[in-house]
Amino acid sequence: MNTVLVGLQWGDEGKGKIIDYLCRDADIIVRFQGGNNAGHTVITNQKKFVFHLIPSGILHKNKICVIGQGVVVDPEVLLDEIEILKKAGISVTSKNLKISNFCHIIMPYHRIIDSLREQKRVQKIGTTKRGIGPCYKDRVSRCGIRMGDFINKDSFAFKLKDNLREKNPIFKDAYGQKGFKFNSVYNKYKKLAQKVKPFVCDITDYFYKKQDKNFLFEGAQGTFLDIDAGTYPFVTSSSVVASNALLGSGLPFINLKKRIGVAKAYTTRVGEGPFPTELSGKILDYLQEEGGEFGATTGRPRRCGWLDLVLLKRAIKINNINTLIITKLDVLGNLDKIKVCLKYKKNKKIVKNFPYSLENIKPIYKEFKGWEKDISKIKSFTKLPKKAKDYLNFMEKYLEVSINFISVGKDREEILKKRRRES
Ligand code: GDP
Ligand code: IMO
Ligand code: MG
Repeated sequence: MNTVLVGLQWGDEGKGKIIDYLCRDADIIVRFQGGNNAGHTVITNQKKFVFHLIPSGILHKNKICVIGQGVVVDPEVLLDEIEILKKAGISVTSKNLKISNFCHIIMPYHRIIDSLREQKRVQKIGTTKRGIGPCYKDRVSRCGIRMGDFINKDSFAFKLKDNLREKNPIFKDAYGQKGFKFNSVYNKYKKLAQKVKPFVCDITDYFYKKQDKNFLFEGAQGTFLDIDAGTYPFVTSSSVVASNALLGSGLPFINLKKRIGVAKAYTTRVGEGPFPTELSGKILDYLQEEGGEFGATTGRPRRCGWLDLVLLKRAIKINNINTLIITKLDVLGNLDKIKVCLKYKKNKKIVKNFPYSLENIKPIYKEFKGWEKDISKIKSFTKLPKKAKDYLNFMEKYLEVSINFISVGKDREEILKKRRRES
């Protein structure tokens, strides 16, 4: 069955681990948005892989991985990622990795302007400084360099020159920087282009005749980082929600029957922006330490908070989720109390649904007793402590969506299947 998987919070929900698990049943795994702002971790046989651009299914043999047209590609990062995989003995060839000729290329000026804008602005976003926003900005400004141009020397030279003609004065005047010399950028990037070229194809054409295969779409970031549905302006620059999977991949003839949402058993966020259930002090230290809550891309400590069911319900609606997966339940193991946000208070009024803005609101919690036990070695849902099951069953009832899997550890096999409405 064709499936899309998206994050339901602010990213880092454990999507990489779940994709790696689910792709046993898929033939083709597709990234459809974002770029190397993503960091998707897969741990198998004590080996850790962090994927930034390549779909997390690449570790499995006989699968095709696709980087769709909605992804922004930094060629240096892509080639490094391929090299790391090859060194680990994973085969990456033009047969199992296909990249859309419509993808936009992240250039060095995108990365630098990303950092400079953050330094200059009062309202900081806390971006990953990977050049994601500036590259998407060029895409809609119609001056971006697409993969198809990048791998064609003449077209690349023309587009790069034209960009530098416009951008160098901005670097100089607005930011007091030197700007870029055409020759040095061109000579370096044309070599990268030749290495990327074998993977590039017309995705729509290539897969049109493969409609009988099982497609799995791998979302990056999370619903509240979506450019429209998220906590704007503290968001990323792409559409991360499930409905973008077809457009962002270039595979509109696929019917997406299964829409999986992944959420952590608590909440995290990296970068700036409102976070109603954010914690500080000892519980924050505990969650960061136990949950290893440090960014897979930038290494920044992740902000942590209790689970927010108002946000989760909203994310389920936005993505029309019909299957839920909860990760990192094991991390809550040693706590004597666990809180869940059910509604907010704003200007002395109770707010039950998602408010337009998350600023100046106070969460109202329901408290659960913790199970005070390590659950990471448990192999079936029925063997979980009753208090852990109570927590999950409450969540399921409130959200009106069945929980299908519960992840209880980092490793590939540390995952439990839950039957519908099982208790
Ligand atoms: P993604 O961006 O959604 O793929 O998530 P990340 O890989 O950035 O962050 C998730 C982190 O949690 C990684 O370090 C994973 O190895 C780890 N992880 C995933 N699932 C679990 C789980 O169920 N329990 C624990 N303890 N760690 C997990
Ligand atoms: P995965 O796929 C968590 C956040 C950044 C910043 C905001 C904008 O691993 O879940 P950007 O560089 O995209 O312009 O930064 O978005 N952000 C993420 N946070 N996980 C991610 O990806 C993220 N990708 C971007 O921290 O707040
Ligand atoms: Mg991540």
